Formats: sequence, structure tokens, C-alpha cells
Amino acid sequence: MRTSVIILAAGKGSRMKSDLPKVLQPIGGQPMLHHLVRATKKIQPKESIIVHGHKGDAVKKAMDCHNHLKWVEQREQLGTGDAVKYALPHINTDLKGVCLVLVGDIPLIRPSTLQALAEVSGGDRLAVLTVKAKDPKGYGRIVKNKEGLITAIVEEKDATEEQKKITEVNTGVLAIPTQDLKHWLSKLDNNNAQEEYYLTDLVEIANHERRRVVSFCIKDEKEVAGINDKKQLSEIEREFQYRKASKLLNEGVTIVDAHRLDIRGQVSVGRDVYLDINTVLKGNVKIGNNVHIEPNCIIENTVIGDNVIIKANSMIEQSKIAANSQIGPFARLRPETVLEEGSKIGNFVEVKKSTIGRESKVNHLSYIGDARIGGNVNVGAGTITCNYDGVNKSPTIIDDHAFIGSNSSLVAPVTIGSKATVGAGSVVTKDVPQDSLTLTRAKQTSIDNWQRPTNKGD
Ligand code: UD1
Ligand code: CA
Repeated sequence: MRTSVIILAAGKGSRMKSDLPKVLQPIGGQPMLHHLVRATKKIQPKESIIVHGHKGDAVKKAMDCHNHLKWVEQREQLGTGDAVKYALPHINTDLKGVCLVLVGDIPLIRPSTLQALAEVSGGDRLAVLTVKAKDPKGYGRIVKNKEGLITAIVEEKDATEEQKKITEVNTGVLAIPTQDLKHWLSKLDNNNAQEEYYLTDLVEIANHERRRVVSFCIKDEKEVAGINDKKQLSEIEREFQYRKASKLLNEGVTIVDAHRLDIRGQVSVGRDVYLDINTVLKGNVKIGNNVHIEPNCIIENTVIGDNVIIKANSMIEQSKIAANSQIGPFARLRPETVLEEGSKIGNFVEVKKSTIGRESKVNHLSYIGDARIGGNVNVGAGTITCNYDGVNKSPTIIDDHAFIGSNSSLVAPVTIGSKATVGAGSVVTKDVPQDSLTLTRAKQTSIDNWQRPTNKGD
């Protein structure tokens, strides 16, 4: 079946009370429109058209990773029926096919549902995706005749008390025979409570022409719940997250509380992964086998090898963590951190754009920036790489088996040779030769029988 997709995204979404256009409000860290576009793309439509309007440039920019989209502008938001008219120039209405029109605020819609609706239409019947709502308030009600065919969709504001009791509602997804689209749209008027051109009036127009209008009623109310305000946004966010967690559970991940995991991107997992509460995974995160993540960790765009332990309250961004490493608690790995196999980053350690070699340890209270640390190095507590002179960043190189005593400042650019030892409290400004001991401390002196000053009084 030749299928075209039209997504209506011109509305302001006033009920969001936000400067961000409604279709850009995030679900799982991405604009809700993004989820809708992904779902429609899976059914491989001939063309996908987005009707934009309010803050259209921002909407387009946020969606520029999808280059298959055609954009049309609806300057004035005169209703869903008016919006669809702008898409017409992109659709060949002479050919048989089905045009799927979707409201832009139902991000959880499944591709299989769209496919099934298109099949129900078959390109010659108007088909409406419906659901039985527990609370139908705000939705268009589905009015049917004795044969179960739809005779009208009545919007909340136009409905009689009797009609308001109908629980089957319009989800905002219609499958319209492409060949009827143009002349049906031309018959719409705005004689209704909101003085808008309602797309839903196509039902009555089709009935006038003695055409059958059918419903395709799905069970999952959440899949098609329209998001109009922040309360609904929050409810759908939780549903989205629960679905993501369920998928991981099915893949064998141990999730301590599926309601306290947030995934804002794509996650892949190995076997025996353990995610404790309040884990937030953002962007692309790849997790190997037997990885243990303790509570309150935020991990973004990172690859994690096998047998890694990430202790509580750690933040990791754009890093590569090799097998058998250990991080945290309270560690911060900033972009371009590479931890080689078996390395250890301990509490209150910040690492930026640095490589920590095999089996090396930076265990306590340190800052490592723009550094290349070899294997089996021990960096003592409180060590700072002074990588910034106020203008330029400079590198620190620490070769294999070096030992940096606690509370040392390594003033970059500087190299510490292999097996070298830096005494605690040193400020190292010159390169340190291999196998040497380097100290920059003042010599310790003691004065015997020291008398503390006494209070002489007035
Ligand atoms: C719409 C349906 C209603 C259905 C509900 C499902 C109509 C008249 N009503 O109501 O039957 O139960 O969705 O969620 O179709 N838009 C435009 N241009 C406009 C107006 C709206 O592009 O001129 C877009 C909006 O950006 C939004 C979508 O159309 O993405 C739906 O608009 P909204 O105001 O949310 O419609 P509802 O009142 O929810
Ligand atoms: Ca809506």
C-alpha cells in the first residue's frame, strides 16, 4: 500500500505554559516529535510531511537529523483540518493509497499500530484509530450507527451531555484514502464551538457521500494518550521509561527498581548487568558483561567494558572504560577520559581528557586533566595536574610504574619518567627523570623546647 504520512505539529501547545513548542517537549530526553517520526519511518512511507507553524525554525532545527522529512508551514493555526491542506502539494492524490494523518503529541504510538490502521483503510475507506478511554474528557467522541460504523466525531466542546458519556475516543490518527483527501478537505468548514477547521469532520463528509467510516480500536490507552500539558507529559515520560526498563529486564538486566531508572537515549547491555536505583543513562551507552552500577550514577555517551564496578554517585561523560576497572564513589569522569584495563578512580577524583593506564590508581581527591598516565602508576591523594596557565592547556605525562606522593602539584607541561617517585607535597615544574626520587619540599626543622607565647595582659 502506497502510504503518505502527515504529522501535525503547528500548534503552540498553550496548555504546556512553556516557551518551548509542544512537539519539542522532551520524552526520554528527546523531542516528542522525534519519537513520532521514528515510529512512522518504520512503516516506510512514500513521503513524510510535517506541518509546522509556531516557532517552526526551532522545530526544524531540533529535527535536522531526519533528512527524509518534508516541511510545510501553516502560518495561522486554524485547526487540524486546515493544517492538512498545506501538505497536499507533496502528495500525489491521483494515485490510490492511504494517507496517515497523526497529531504531533502522541509519542508512544507503535509502528505496528500505524501499519494495521493503514491496512484497515486499504486506501478506500476512512479509518479512525480509536481507544476506549477511562477518562474520555478532552478527546473527540466516536459516534457510531447500529452497524458499528462511525457517523461522526464530536469534539468535547461541541458534545451534548449524552455524547460526552461515550468512552470510545479519537486518538488523533486517521487513515484517509489519498484519492479522496483533496475534495474532502475542500468541504470542511469552521461552524463549531472553536471556529476551527476540524479534521475530524471528514467523518461526516464521508458519510454524506455514503462511504463507510471504520474504527480500529486498540487496547493500550497509553500508546495514544495525547500530551497537552505538563501533567500528561510527566505521565507519558514514566510510561516511556517503564517500557525501556521492561525491555532491559527482558534482556536479563537486574534492575533494582524499574521505576527508578531513566534512559534518555540508546542503551546496549551484556549479560549480568546490575543497575541500582536512580541510574540515568543518556545518549549512547554501551555496557559490557557483569557490570555493576551502584545508586545515583549518571552515565552519558560512554562505553563500559566487562566486570566494571561503578560506585554510587558517580558522573561519567563521553568516556571509555576498559574491563575490570573501578570508579567512584563520587567520581567525575569528563569527556575524553579513557580508563585502561583494571584501573581505579576513587572518591572525589575528577578526570578530563586523560588516559589512565592499565592497573593504575588515582584513588582520592585528585584532578587529572590533559594527562597521559601509563600502567601501574599510583597517584597519591590530592594530586593535581596544573594543566591551565590561564590561557593555554598543557599536557602531563606520567610513565609506567611512577609513584606520585600525596598532595603534589604537577605543573604542565611536564613528564614524570618511568618508576620515578615524587615525594609528597612537591610542586613539580621540571621533568622528572626515570628511577629517581624528586622532592621540592622545604627541609623540615624542629626547635627544641619551644615556648608558646603567653598572654601578658594590660
Ligand atoms: C485532537 C482531535 C481530537 C482527538 C485528540 C487526540 C481534532 C479537531 N481534534 O484534539 O478529536 O481526540 O486530538 O489527542 O482534530 N495542530 C496544527 N494546526 C492547527 C491545530 C492543531 O498543526 O491549526 C496540531 C497541534 O500541533 C497538535 C495536533 O494538531 O499536534 C492536535 O492539536 P490539539 O490542539 O492537541 O488537538 P486536541 O484538542 O487534543
Ligand atoms: Ca492533543
